[in-house]
Amino acid sequence: MVQHLELEQQFTTAFKKMARRADLKAYVEKTPELNRILRQAALRYMAGDTLQDGIAAGTKLVERGYSLSIEYIGENTLSVSECEQAAAEMKALIYELKKAGIPARVSFDLSHIGLSIGKSLAYSCLIDLAGQTADTDIELFISMEESGKTDDILSVYKQAAAVYSGIGITLQAHLLRTPDDLATLTSPCRIRIVKGAYQEPDNLSISRSPELNQRYLQLVEKAVQQGHRVSIATHDEVMINSVLEREWLENNHAEIEMLYGIRPDLASRLQKSGKPVRIYTPYGQEWYLYLCHRIAEYPPNLYQAVIDMVSKQEMNNNY
Ligand code: FDA
Repeated sequence: MVQHLELEQQFTTAFKKMARRADLKAYVEKTPELNRILRQAALRYMAGDTLQDGIAAGTKLVERGYSLSIEYIGENTLSVSECEQAAAEMKALIYELKKAGIPARVSFDLSHIGLSIGKSLAYSCLIDLAGQTADTDIELFISMEESGKTDDILSVYKQAAAVYSGIGITLQAHLLRTPDDLATLTSPCRIRIVKGAYQEPDNLSISRSPELNQRYLQLVEKAVQQGHRVSIATHDEVMINSVLEREWLENNHAEIEMLYGIRPDLASRLQKSGKPVRIYTPYGQEWYLYLCHRIAEYPPNLYQAVIDMVSKQEMNNNY
């Protein structure tokens, strides 16, 4: 049993490394058959390659009674022109959502729109996007990246939120600093709480454990008490049951948010019992990294990926 857990941990670390290997990604991109079958596996977790795919999947979810988050996948963009291209895509997304009358949360990494080049570029892209969402049902939501970027992300967020209060921010329960970060968010705002997806040093974080679950619930409780609107972003059924017991979903200040294609059975059960559920739906061409992350965080997804690669049936997530 111990050996199995150790193996699983090593697998997760290895897969996260694979996700970052530019040579492997380039090889997949230039090998048509490999590209086709891996993309087929990625489609379980994303709407497709294009903005139209994102809107189509999002429309279906909204029609079925879910709230929607939507992301044009990307991160760590290293040239100004690529940052501008990403921001232009997000503007087009906001425009299409407005046109289709779909209320949605547009989520993104600040490093996709300039943070890897400098805070000022990320800030100006963010403010430009926020201007597009004024007087609409569309909100912007910032994801949280590696701990080396946390200070910069929070600083850009706070600067922009002082101008557009509707922007939301993600906090990671696994970072030891997060309760202090939460305490600095004094005005009621929109917060997503996640366990944390990045490999972090032991002196900065705690790994998956009952202690982490406890800290997670404490953060949610604090955020709800502080009057924030909280997205409880997890697929952990034990945690979700604790959330249901505490009745945080009843007062309209909290919701469950889950990634597209992960535990659609659980999302559907919660939604059908009247609980507020949001589905985080990504689209775009950068699916390689996204697929690797979904497998790394839950190794049995590798079995699912192999099944999906050879399946002749159209992907159907049954929401
Ligand atoms: P955990 O990893 O502890 O697993 C508990 C159980 O949940 C598993 O045993 C399994 O049953 C189920 N489960 C979890 N992951 C699964 C998977 N991939 N497939 C199938 N079942 C799975 N992270 C981050 O660092 N920054 C961010 O901005 C975000 N943003 C974000 C938005 C949203 C809406 C969600 C849901 C998640 C994120 N994350 C994130 C990812 C997050 O930090 C975390 O890595 C994943 O949600 C997995 O953690 P869980 O809390 O789901 O459970």
